Amino acid sequence: SDRTSIVVVANRLPVDREVRADGSVHWRPSPGGLVTALEPVMRKRQGVWVGWSGDAGDAPEPFEADGIQIHPVPLSHREVDSYYEGFSNATLWPLYHDVIAEPEYHRSWWDDYVTVNRRFADAAAEAAPDNAVVWVQDYQLQLVPQMLRERRPDLRIGFFLHIPFPPQELFMQLPWRTQVIRGLLGADLIGFQLPGGAANFLRLARRLIDLKPRGSEVDFEGRTVRARSFPISIDFASIDAIAREERIAKRSAEIRDELGHPKTILLGVDRLDYTKGIAIRLKTFSELLQDGSVSVPDVALIQIATPSRERVEHYKVLRDEIELQVGRINGDYGNVGAPAVHYLHQSFSREELTAFYRAADVMLVTPLRDGMNLVAKEYVASRVDHGGTLILSEFTGAAAELKQAYLVNPHDIDGVKERVLQAINADPADARRRMRRMRRQVAEHDVSRWAADFLQAMGIEA
Ligand code: UDP
Ligand code: G6P
Repeated sequence: SDRTSIVVVANRLPVDREVRADGSVHWRPSPGGLVTALEPVMRKRQGVWVGWSGDAGDAPEPFEADGIQIHPVPLSHREVDSYYEGFSNATLWPLYHDVIAEPEYHRSWWDDYVTVNRRFADAAAEAAPDNAVVWVQDYQLQLVPQMLRERRPDLRIGFFLHIPFPPQELFMQLPWRTQVIRGLLGADLIGFQLPGGAANFLRLARRLIDLKPRGSEVDFEGRTVRARSFPISIDFASIDAIAREERIAKRSAEIRDELGHPKTILLGVDRLDYTKGIAIRLKTFSELLQDGSVSVPDVALIQIATPSRERVEHYKVLRDEIELQVGRINGDYGNVGAPAVHYLHQSFSREELTAFYRAADVMLVTPLRDGMNLVAKEYVASRVDHGGTLILSEFTGAAAELKQAYLVNPHDIDGVKERVLQAINADPADARRRMRRMRRQVAEHDVSRWAADFLQAMGIEA
């Protein structure tokens, strides 16, 4: 196979550094879909990963973890506020997700975004062997391709955006819109989750820098840049294998036991993020209880809401809203020893999540906007029994592939309610047929195929 070195540059490392109260240091897996997808790819290729440890202050020395060479990049306390929590997660994240929350524009945040992007570009320039392929990831690092190319013209540079790329009407709000487009154009190949993201980008390149795209290509400063979609995925075989383990089947049965064997278990698994449509999901459930269409303890909802970006204002407000809603629903419809909503503000391992997926009759994935949503694909991969039904928002990247899911518009509460009742009462043979087809789709389009497609488009053979 091709021996070209691959360097991934991402805001997150695959592992997070945690310093406990007693001063001891621990590393644990990082949250979110980016790490889930890239970690198996990089492990297989013995790649280099340049990223931030999740902790402010000095960066640890480079080290190796599971065959991946880890190169930590430091962020100061101020940069965590301005570059990470500020520009990345209070400006770009809401702007790129349909302005579900209002983006904040601060010049000081932008200045630190530039500074930190420069630091990542420098770290990549130092870590990359001659003629390596450098693969830059996600919205936190959109200026890195251009900055890196200035220092290392020998490199092949790819960029992949894990979140949606917004339409012109929204992107044009950004005071630094031209700089961002130029930053991305430093790459040879720019990957998006959906064709629409690539089309939005090319339209903006025409409008803001007067370039003339031809199909998916555009010439810029004497080079040809390509922009197209590469829908990301999961390591299907590994989730499928975990789901088949005896202890996972046992844990899954235990979960049903602990809930008192409800007829139907509904499940949501999300980072606690306003893009995920958790409030709408709870509202749907509470209306179904109110109408008497479902009742406790026949039906139980488990909502895993993993802590995320907890110092960002919109996330604090969201947590309060969700916990208020959960409290109300349980107060109105729960019983002693049988709450209606089993709410877990915790992070779970892959194995534990797989047991939850296997226990769930109806999986609720209702984002208002989501680049892909790997949870939906993981649910499908976990159902080695071909059981379970998936409710899936049309506004996820995953909806373009999982056409046999019960698709919903999360803004249409009556529509979601109807779909949930259909899923609860689905004909088992029809549900199994849908699940089999979705499993085939994800098995054939797993994360190694995603990576191979992207890298092949960069000129590397798998
Ligand atoms: N995840 C996890 N533990 C949790 C909650 C989520 O490991 O407690 C993982 C989940 O299995 C999935 C990823 O986090 O692989 C979430 O990816 P997704 O694309 O669904 O959403 P994102 O968090 O990237 O917006
Ligand atoms: C999404 C983003 C990733 C990010 C992850 C977790 O998947 O696309 O870039 O790493 O969420 O968020 P966090 O802010 O904790 O890194």
